[in-house]
Amino acid sequence: MKVIAINGSPRKAWNTATLLTKALEGAAEQGAETELVHLYDLKFQGCISCFECKKREGKSYGTCAVKDDLTSILKKVQEADAFILGSPIYFGYISGEMKSCMERLLFQYLTYTDPPQTLFPRKINTAFIYTMNVPEDLMKEYGYVQNFGRNEMILQRIFGASESLFSCDTYQFEDYSKVVADRFDFEKKAKRRKELFPLDCKKSYEMGARFAGKDG
Ligand SMILES: Cc1cc2nc3c(=O)[nH]c(=O)nc-3n(C[C@H](O)[C@H](O)[C@H](O)COP(=O)(O)O)c2cc1C
Repeated sequence: MKVIAINGSPRKAWNTATLLTKALEGAAEQGAETELVHLYDLKFQGCISCFECKKREGKSYGTCAVKDDLTSILKKVQEADAFILGSPIYFGYISGEMKSCMERLLFQYLTYTDPPQTLFPRKINTAFIYTMNVPEDLMKEYGYVQNFGRNEMILQRIFGASESLFSCDTYQFEDYSKVVADRFDFEKKAKRRKELFPLDCKKSYEMGARFAGKDG
């Protein structure tokens, strides 16, 4: 059992990476082989519309033909038994790097048939973990949830199953007194970090364990 997590935050040990690490710890506890990939370590681009993955009888049909640092990661996902994407919310959506990664990961498997079909050969568990500054009520009011739902739907269509997990009102800076961020109540943020973030970590851990468990 192989479980891969892909971190779409430039920060390797902050909110998104922590939750992904917890999910992998849960999976590892069930005996899975795990790997955390940091997208910001890689040099790659999004889909370039070459359509090599769509060419009739083409040698790259169903496989992204672009060769860069993402190529080996896409191959690992192809062989994984479950994968978990994670991204901070940047201006209402996932980070640019994660968006580029998704374009390459998803487009290769999606057919332009009617109805659309998937070329991914198996059904595997997938998930998306989102982290953001806003609290739950604003996450809903700003329409973020609709975006999460769309990602969940496309991941389900292609890989057979998907779920979303979100962590709101995250602690963003090492030291709030050193940045101009009067909008935030630092103490409230610190309290939430201490009391509620561990619950998000627990949910991630349990999801990872579930994915790698005997019913996963
Ligand atoms: C460029 C940038 C844009 C952001 N835009 C939003 C946003 O639109 N909504 C929001 O809730 N948080 C926003 N944030 C906050 C991050 O989503 C939040 O701090 C997240 O938990 C950071 O993840 P990390 O700790 O894994 O890096 C933004 C942060 C940055 C750096």
